[in-house]
Amino acid sequence: MKFFVDTAEIDQIKELNDLGMVDGVTTNPSLIAKSGRDILEVTKEICDLVDGPVSAEVVALDADTMLAEGRKLAKIADNIAVKVPLTWAGLQTCKALSDEGVMVNVTLCFSANQALLAAKAGATFISPFIGRLDDLNLDGMELIGDIRTIYDNYGFETQILAASIRSANHMKDAALIGADVATAPPAVIKAMANHVLTDKGLAGFMADVEKAGIKIL
Ligand code: G3P
Repeated sequence: MKFFVDTAEIDQIKELNDLGMVDGVTTNPSLIAKSGRDILEVTKEICDLVDGPVSAEVVALDADTMLAEGRKLAKIADNIAVKVPLTWAGLQTCKALSDEGVMVNVTLCFSANQALLAAKAGATFISPFIGRLDDLNLDGMELIGDIRTIYDNYGFETQILAASIRSANHMKDAALIGADVATAPPAVIKAMANHVLTDKGLAGFMADVEKAGIKIL
């Protein structure tokens, strides 16, 4: 499973990228607003830093303006994936941009039928939002599984990009169920390294290092 990092914070992307943990980056208008940066400027900086796809989202609601915005975003760098919402206008924009050879990430997906439409419209990525479904006591991971089955039934090449990931468990479950990509905030990716028994074991080793006066350097 590829790891995308869901942030527009350059320092955090750089730290994970230096460790080989970043296969791509996703942003959205909320993350851009949180960064306090100009969308074109910060997106260019991210594209220069990371080799993989960098999702940048349109902000218009109608297809013509979305398409114009998408074309402008796509000019930032070769690794831009234009992000469009899963609306009818978003699907129209997806089809037009993918026909032009631009990568498209269709976002705000909450049903298998929406994912089927995005694949038909030529999406490179479909972004089902796991956490926001779980928030409503629905099963976000079940949606990922349904999309996996449908895409595999018909050989769709659209990649399933599990989004709205809130915990390390979400990452494990997305990997088990066969998501192609998971995008997560940096803190969630870092939390995957944590285990209470690792901490306890290390504390035991350190106590013995102290007792025996073990030194290496
Ligand atoms: O990847 C989509 C993400 O940015 C939304 O996450 O936690 O706001 O539902 P969240």
